[in-house]
Amino acid sequence: MELLQERRKTAHLGGGEKRVESQHKRGKLTARERLLKFFDVGSFTELDTFVTHRSTDLGLDKQRFEGDAVVTGHGTVEGRQVFAYAQDFTVLGGSLSLVAAQKISKVMDHAMRMGAPILGINDSGGARIQEGIDSLAGYGEIFRRNTLASGVVPQITIIAGPAAGGAVYSPALTDFIYMVEGIGQMYITGPDVVKAVTGEEVSHQDLGGAATHASRSGVAHFTAESEEACFEHVRRLLSYLPSNNTESAPTTERIDAPDRADVGLRDVVPEAANQPYDVMDVITKVVDNGEFLPVHHNFAPNVVVGFARLDGRSIGIVANQANQMAGMLDIDASDKAARFVRFCDAFNIPIVTLVDVPGFMPGTQQEYGGLIRHGAKLLYAYVEATVPKITVILRKAYGGAYIVMGSKEMRTDVNLAWPGSEIAVMGPEGAINVIRRREIAEADDADAKRAELVADYRDQFANPYVAANRGYLDDVIDPAQTRPELVKALRMLESKIDSLPAKKHGNIPL
Ligand code: HXC
Repeated sequence: MELLQERRKTAHLGGGEKRVESQHKRGKLTARERLLKFFDVGSFTELDTFVTHRSTDLGLDKQRFEGDAVVTGHGTVEGRQVFAYAQDFTVLGGSLSLVAAQKISKVMDHAMRMGAPILGINDSGGARIQEGIDSLAGYGEIFRRNTLASGVVPQITIIAGPAAGGAVYSPALTDFIYMVEGIGQMYITGPDVVKAVTGEEVSHQDLGGAATHASRSGVAHFTAESEEACFEHVRRLLSYLPSNNTESAPTTERIDAPDRADVGLRDVVPEAANQPYDVMDVITKVVDNGEFLPVHHNFAPNVVVGFARLDGRSIGIVANQANQMAGMLDIDASDKAARFVRFCDAFNIPIVTLVDVPGFMPGTQQEYGGLIRHGAKLLYAYVEATVPKITVILRKAYGGAYIVMGSKEMRTDVNLAWPGSEIAVMGPEGAINVIRRREIAEADDADAKRAELVADYRDQFANPYVAANRGYLDDVIDPAQTRPELVKALRMLESKIDSLPAKKHGNIPL
């Protein structure tokens, strides 16, 4: 017994007291501290505590630590089972040995068999250089499992240290990446190599820190100012998700009246078609208790995506943000929304779409960047999604962007619109300039003629009733009644069953 206790104590020290101290000095918790803080108190069970590498190359025979460079196991979050691993930087810089990869693979296999989410906390110098190809094969094992687990169990990654080179691809294959500010870094090649190859000088943080990936590249979905805040946020995220793709998302007790109307919604959208407003005001007035968990908050802010609850059930919200680039869809917004729609669909989370979109972003930068290809992803994602889908048009819904944003033809179940909405091929000014150009040019007062024609067009076409007449909309609703209408639709759709034609898999335009 004493020997067991002694060995466990030594194993729990990872790379030893000095390296633990230096980990703390770097502002980082150790792997075990991280897992103990993340899981419900007393629920963490460690696996493979005594696993050691068997390599003898390059002096590794003298650097053997029980548990090697990763701590793995399982525990609960609000009573629900979750599997996890945390790389231990105090052991050879958290580098990935073959046995570390096997430990990670074991918990991933358990997560798949048990149908439970998996969390990876990354803090590693990458491939264990001394183990060479064995380490690379270890990465391959993990990437394969990440891919096969995609859409089966939620996979979440926290970057709480370095993640460089090919090591970034395991996180990139997971559903959500968190980066802890100041300590998390991700890049394919670090600043030194960047300088040698391109001549660019860039700091570690500017190249691959939390702010960079959460706002510019979109690689990270969330940032957290501390590890503790990060763990709390992951726990909150998990509360919206089912444990696997065969379950429904957990429902909470009814915390907000399903029939709660809000007359404030009648005034959120300004009268003038080009005035901005914050779509978050609509979201928070509609969802249970005004609680919304935005995903990719700082990336492509012209579209808002995130989780909320309606009638106690998890929903995913996709909304154009009128106060950012007028809510236009561009490359990043299309990617962001498409990925979110696919996540919701994979995990049985109904999608509510709030539309106010003037169109796709014009310009060479967007066209050369492949806006056609990226916009097509969003179309594809909506059509493919078989979960309950409800769309509410708040104001503008023009052209291709109208079709993309959860229109009836995208297999959306319930389509509603507010009375002030404008659904048309394009905005009145653009339309008149195209179809009445000659008439305007020939008029004595071109501006007056244009204004008259625009007003006529607006009366005739830029309203929700043309679409409602044809059944493209199921109803036009009082904005104040949006929440009760959404709740009714969601209840009606509870037993929805829909499917895709039999195929191996589709070919989403990547
Ligand atoms: C073995 C490693 C290691 C590695 C770090 N260590 N990285 N051991 N393999 N990849 C060891 C160090 O020797 C040191 O051991 C301890 O970990 C801590 O490292 P330090 O350098 O002292 O820490 P720090 O100054 O904080 O720098 C951290 C670091 C740096 C930025 C991560 O260690 C580093 O650049 N490491 C190499 C990164 C790298 O090139 N990895 C390979 C990438 S290619 P002692 O005994 O002194 O404590 C790759 C391919 C993956 O990963 C492909 C997948 C398909």
